[in-house]
Amino acid sequence: MGDNMARGDPARVGNGWLAANRANWDDRTPIHLASRDYDVEGWLRQGRGPRPREAAALGDVAGLHLLHLQCHIGLETLAWARAGAIVTGLDFSPAAVAAARDLAERAGLADRATFVCADVHRAVQALGGATFDVVYGSLGSLCWLPSVDGWAAQAGALVAPGGRFFLHDGHPLADALAEEEAVFAGSYFEEAAPEVCDADVTYTDGDGRVAHGRTYQWNHSIGEIVTALIRHGLQLEWLAEHDWTTWRRFAWLVPAAPGEWTCPAGTPRMPLSFSLLARRPR
Ligand SMILES: C[S@@+](CC[C@H](N)C(=O)[O-])C[C@H]1O[C@@H](n2cnc3c(N)ncnc32)[C@H](O)[C@@H]1O
Repeated sequence: MGDNMARGDPARVGNGWLAANRANWDDRTPIHLASRDYDVEGWLRQGRGPRPREAAALGDVAGLHLLHLQCHIGLETLAWARAGAIVTGLDFSPAAVAAARDLAERAGLADRATFVCADVHRAVQALGGATFDVVYGSLGSLCWLPSVDGWAAQAGALVAPGGRFFLHDGHPLADALAEEEAVFAGSYFEEAAPEVCDADVTYTDGDGRVAHGRTYQWNHSIGEIVTALIRHGLQLEWLAEHDWTTWRRFAWLVPAAPGEWTCPAGTPRMPLSFSLLARRPR
């Protein structure tokens, strides 16, 4: 969730939310490419693969066809290619998809990476009915989508029989809380009306400003996410709530392991992110 939130009137928001969010992500892309946080040059130089915890969750992906929904500039997608997967990334931001294609070339991974520009709600159609051994979603994905059921219908249909669905996202409880104190700033549950956020900054370092600062976001409870995936044909294997996150959700979080943030020592532990693994039966 972003800064300066207000609950929107769905009638007034209409369908404008998709175009507004897309313009916002187009604006964020060059800022992220230049940021120390994404550290694109370091990523190219060091040849980093997937996050160790995610790699452990999925095991050997060599030769598997992996789809990353909402892939942004493709760093996480291409990390799976470095681990041997044949990857497809999908994102609705033309700027992000262009950056991902360019990074695939520069990383020498273009022969095993395809990037598709499409709204995730139309992913099945955009991917021509293809299904994948692994469908993957990563931090900061679900809050941009109005209906977790609509998303799960696409995600579920994209998993091949016997294939797996892996999600690692911000915890909806943390996303509902206010920035400074542990009070709810928004609904824990999915609401028809979006949170309307106005912020001319993004979550990385850098002085760049976002020209299209208005975005529309939604929270989805853990129960709603899991139930939607099950409703669309997936069987849950495990669900873990984490007291750490790879994004500094609150300014008061402190570094834990490299690239991870957690609550300060001596304060109550709270859920900051979660991951789950589900499978489509054969
Ligand atoms: C925070 S990024 C998630 C990727 C990754 N965890 C990262 O940090 O690079 C969110 C991504 O969702 C994409 N996105 C938002 N709404 C979308 C939609 N309706 N369809 C496809 N992509 C969407 C944005 O363009 C953005 O690239």
